Amino acid sequence: MSNITRRPKISIIGAGFVGSTCAHWAASKELGDIVLIDINGDAAKGKALDLFEASPVEGFDSNVQGGSDYALTKDSDVVVITAGLPRKPGMSRDDLLATNSKIVKECAQNVAKYSPNCVLIIVSNPLDAMCHVALNATGFPRERVIGMAGVLDSARFRSFVAMECNVSVEDVQGFTLGGHGDTMVPMPRYTTVGGIPLTQLVAKDRIDSLVDRARKGGAEIVELLKTGSAYYAPASSAIQMVEAIVRDKKRILPCAVLLKGEYGVQDLFCGVLVKLGAKGLEGIPILEMNAEEKDMFGKSAAAVKGLVDDMKRLGL
Ligand code: LAC
Repeated sequence: MSNITRRPKISIIGAGFVGSTCAHWAASKELGDIVLIDINGDAAKGKALDLFEASPVEGFDSNVQGGSDYALTKDSDVVVITAGLPRKPGMSRDDLLATNSKIVKECAQNVAKYSPNCVLIIVSNPLDAMCHVALNATGFPRERVIGMAGVLDSARFRSFVAMECNVSVEDVQGFTLGGHGDTMVPMPRYTTVGGIPLTQLVAKDRIDSLVDRARKGGAEIVELLKTGSAYYAPASSAIQMVEAIVRDKKRILPCAVLLKGEYGVQDLFCGVLVKLGAKGLEGIPILEMNAEEKDMFGKSAAAVKGLVDDMKRLGL
């Protein structure tokens, strides 16, 4: 007799572009049953029904439900919080601090009430600060509150490298560390093209411009869309993390986690390479950084600390 009792349950909070695209990727990968929650319950219900109605065509078996009542999320295995306002052109992610911290706090409290054992993935911005809000609001251990940013920032950097080298994106590996802000730290020294270090293939000034484009990658999309921020790549990145957890893949991915002395950072969320599996954060393999990388990582962590201090000062 098998022990399998049901499919994994994945809830997504916020049925805007990022949330609904998360639902789409999760369903198409048949990762589990999906619940979409939004303050606009009918919109969430409509998008869920619409997605479910695609399932006979696409051939995925996934119950997809939507609404505004968190009771629908009961006993989720993984919950992704995407709720909050997106940036408008000219805004930095940090400009969203006051508004989104209230939204994320309320969402996280509701999530914890119905799914006290879930792994929580945070997508709302400013990402690292919102992870602190969610950790405090839920009282979850650090293993179960993880921020999505590094996978996205790395995907952008990998895309730009693939374009530069005119090679398949599949052959470009690499990662971005630090906070999800203007000070993020792409790591060219650890980026490879078909296993060959990027630094052997591309001149330094070109690498610098790819790093700069990755740092500004979110803003580039905001400027083009004008009414909101990116959603295909952010959602795809969040769902790669969900997949690592529900399939217990033990993937090594760059994610924002609460550091407790790793890399010399104490009690601060910051993007580092982590092992993701069924328990959430299952390990932090430590990477060697040179002096320049350490300096950039330190500056990025300081920027996150600045935001966390702002939240304390504002009583958020
Ligand atoms: C971005 C947003 C999601 O980087 O922060 O596009």
